[in-house]
Amino acid sequence: MSILVFGKNGQLSRALQRSLTARGAEFSCYGRKELDLIAHPENAAQLIRKLSPDAVINGCAFTDVDGAEKQAAEANILNAKAPGIMAAACAKADIPFIHISTDYVFDGEKSGAYHPTDKRNPLNTYGRSKAAGERAVMAAGGQSLILRTSWVYDGTGQNFMTTMLRLAASETHLNLVSTQFGRPTYAGHLAEACLAALETMPAQPKIYHVSNSGPVISWADFAEAIFDHAKLHPDVTRVSSDHFPRPAKRPDNSALDITDFERDFQHPLQPWQMGLELAFQERNT
Ligand SMILES: NC(=O)c1ccc[n+]([C@@H]2O[C@H](COP(=O)([O-])OP(=O)(O)OC[C@H]3O[C@@H](n4cnc5c(N)ncnc54)[C@H](OP(=O)(O)O)[C@@H]3O)[C@@H](O)[C@H]2O)c1
Repeated sequence: MSILVFGKNGQLSRALQRSLTARGAEFSCYGRKELDLIAHPENAAQLIRKLSPDAVINGCAFTDVDGAEKQAAEANILNAKAPGIMAAACAKADIPFIHISTDYVFDGEKSGAYHPTDKRNPLNTYGRSKAAGERAVMAAGGQSLILRTSWVYDGTGQNFMTTMLRLAASETHLNLVSTQFGRPTYAGHLAEACLAALETMPAQPKIYHVSNSGPVISWADFAEAIFDHAKLHPDVTRVSSDHFPRPAKRPDNSALDITDFERDFQHPLQPWQMGLELAFQERNT
């Protein structure tokens, strides 16, 4: 099976490369240097036609949530227009397509975990662009899957885990947000979920939720788990998200209901504590 991955140096695309290499699968990855999809989103379709892969996974996105407030046009091209073009090209060629979306399509007002059929109501430009991407992929038809995920990280990228480790090594006191809740997703587990899903693709486009399993936690809880693991002991104050005013508003509740994915793909999602363990192992290799 040959797989085309859009994205090369991103967290998910790097994890996909590790998983595909471990399986001995044939694949090719295209990051922004190889194919700038903001400048030329239509080139995604040309590449799909040229390579004629057995499946396509889109790991590309405009993920700078605050930056998107000032670069709405760019965010919309990469997060909405390009996935729509990819999905249409895949549908035309009858190729399975996996696209990744986000908890930020929701407003976080729900009590309890979000189900894939819950109503979207994004709070910021990034979330609106990702929601538009979902609509474009759904409208294209074909064997498309949209996997919404949350709080993605790995051991080496620029993410919450590595930021916390850097701050805890240099600061004696940290303020940590305890009013936003969700579940972290280790990029390696998200990559494995994508590959598991490819084995049982639906005939029609469908949305599923994928995160690590385990208890829903706050960012402060996640930071404390990271510090415990690293045997770091900064002095911590738990604060509300108002303590860190940012250009883009974030949802307070990002918890995703992952039961449909686990059932339909027979793929149990690992607890986030296991993901954290693997992320630490990744730092040591
Ligand atoms: N990070 C999170 O917390 C989070 C949470 C929920 C959902 N998600 C979703 O999960 C997916 C994967 O996220 P991630 O954390 O792996 O993202 P990431 O690490 O920020 O990687 C972004 C990817 O997009 C590519 N890209 C950026 N600009 C591009 C351009 N102009 N043309 C072509 N490619 C471009 C990058 O290319 P290069 O390879 O060249 O760098 C990179 O591969 C995304 O759909 C994201 O929206 C992420």
